[in-house]
Amino acid sequence: MKLEEIKQITVLGSGVMGHGIAQGFAMGGYPVVLYDIDDALLRVALSHIRESLALFREAGLVSPEETTAVMERLSVSTDLKQAVENSEFIIEVIPEILDLKQSVLKEVEALCPGNAIIASNTSHLRVSEVFASLEDPSRSVGAHYFNPPQICPTVEVVKGEGTSDATLSLTYDLMKKIKKVPVRLHKDVVGLVVNRLQTALLREAFYLYEEGVISAEDIDHAVRGSLGFRAASIGPMAMVDMGGLDAWLDCCEKLLPIMDAGTDGPKALKTLVADGHTGIKSGKGFYEYAVDFSQDGLDEAVKKRDREFLDRLKRRFLSTPAP
Ligand SMILES: NC(=O)c1ccc[n+]([C@@H]2O[C@H](COP(=O)([O-])OP(=O)(O)OC[C@H]3O[C@@H](n4cnc5c(N)ncnc54)[C@H](O)[C@@H]3O)[C@@H](O)[C@H]2O)c1
Repeated sequence: MKLEEIKQITVLGSGVMGHGIAQGFAMGGYPVVLYDIDDALLRVALSHIRESLALFREAGLVSPEETTAVMERLSVSTDLKQAVENSEFIIEVIPEILDLKQSVLKEVEALCPGNAIIASNTSHLRVSEVFASLEDPSRSVGAHYFNPPQICPTVEVVKGEGTSDATLSLTYDLMKKIKKVPVRLHKDVVGLVVNRLQTALLREAFYLYEEGVISAEDIDHAVRGSLGFRAASIGPMAMVDMGGLDAWLDCCEKLLPIMDAGTDGPKALKTLVADGHTGIKSGKGFYEYAVDFSQDGLDEAVKKRDREFLDRLKRRFLSTPAP
């Protein structure tokens, strides 16, 4: 199949990630069918998309006319056959339960066009296992987004064991077409790349916090003004090139032997979770939240975050060619 032959997209699952992924395709000009198991969930998803589009409008990234057009490109369905039978690209964004994904995808394969690509947004399952129930895995691919998916540019496009090169390339091109910043993963590794990098950073952050070296607040200040500040412009590999590979080799040889290499859940997290402190939603995590973070408070916090992200998206990713 050629990129021009992709005429309609289906997103299966309208939760935290699904509605934003659907919004991204609709903003990229595609008619999108958003599918879920219940009408009430789809109504909530559409209202989240409307709210998000209002933020895009406020940021000057879409016009009022385009907002209306985006909403018109979106349709919803609770009928799987109707949702997938006319789409050339279908992405599942349903809960991270292997059996559930496999059984839904098997049904999808039987109902969708023979040439359609079937993608998965799985974070922690192996893409090849998610698609193990497919008769033709050459049309399967991982397409891993970051929350909020309608804003975060990167999508990890993942080659499962059965994925054909043509499917990988076409998915990559589709992501570019809707102004995402896709990266190709040539092997299907658990956790993919970005979550593995992030977990490596967090393991050391939790260790230093637990050892009393630094407060949680100062870890955040330190990262935002150094690693985060630089990473918004240049990635870690370019940074090493600029600093000198010899200097970084020396740094690795000195630090790696003394850094945390634990493979258990970090103590800092276990202690807080055991006490019921699960973060903003419970009123306490590494910080205390004085305000009432019932749903309204959370919505406001998400809007504040998204405004800042949109500002960065506009300045760094949409005003210049993608890095
Ligand atoms: N939340 C994140 O930050 C994040 C980031 C990247 C990837 N992911 C991955 O995306 C997927 C979805 O995660 P989420 O956070 O959006 O979950 P979620 O629970 O918010 O949403 C899942 C949606 O799927 C629907 N659903 C359940 N069974 C279904 C079925 N049989 N058919 C169709 N829809 C069904 C649910 O009703 C729900 O609306 C998971 O694989 C997850 O690992 C999540």
